[in-house]
Amino acid sequence: MGHAITFAQQKGGAGKTTVLAHLAAAWAEAGRRVAVMDLDPQQSLTRWAALRADPAIEAIESRDYRAGSDIKAARRSHDVVLIDCPGAASSLLESAIRESDLVLAPCQPSVMDVWALESVVATADRLKRPIRILLNRVPPRLGSLEEVLGALGKNRALLLATQIGNRNGYSRAMLDGRTAQELAPRSTAAAEIAGLRAELTALLARL
Ligand SMILES: Nc1ncnc2c1ncn2[C@@H]1O[C@H](COP(=O)(O)OP(=O)(O)OP(=O)(O)O)[C@@H](O)[C@H]1O
Ligand SMILES: [Mg+2]
Repeated sequence: MGHAITFAQQKGGAGKTTVLAHLAAAWAEAGRRVAVMDLDPQQSLTRWAALRADPAIEAIESRDYRAGSDIKAARRSHDVVLIDCPGAASSLLESAIRESDLVLAPCQPSVMDVWALESVVATADRLKRPIRILLNRVPPRLGSLEEVLGALGKNRALLLATQIGNRNGYSRAMLDGRTAQELAPRSTAAAEIAGLRAELTALLARL
């Protein structure tokens, strides 16, 4: 039985689709059987996967009413199932979280992103699923990082050790179905994604 991770964060543009795509490619590269499921009507993950046409990443089509059973089925035939969700809280988000081992909430280092986390943390808690927060788009010099971390309050304990920087490579690579680590294998972005993959692999093994 594979692991499923739902990507959720109410605040739009936090990096759910970008981070999910980069992780999918990283796990596929490590020989894992990877499935991605796009539950967001914007369908940007689906477009990335179509451009990529990677036989090692299966893009599974689903619909809201059968999302839960599709995730269950995908876990039987894949090592990792990554689910992209629309921002707002919904019954669809809840059914994805219910079938997942972990909720991953990307968060930009801004107080408004931090506030928006509260609803997804509450949903994960209510459904008794572990949740972790990933700081994404962290600029090289952010004097106010400590302020942002302070705004997290008790949710600070949910932060992953890995942080993802604000780097052009992440957005540029998505345009043609690739990843930052493929565009520049020795880049900082490549190291960040490798670190994130390792941290999540270890975490999933403990859950
Ligand atoms: N680490 C990063 N560095 C630079 N740009 C990034 C990074 N992460 C995401 N972006 C850019 O930020 C924008 C929003 O990212 P993305 O679409 O992945 O967020 P999202 O959470 O999926 O948004 P939505 O809620 O609209 O689905 C995109 O233009 C993306 O290219
Ligand atoms: Mg998205």
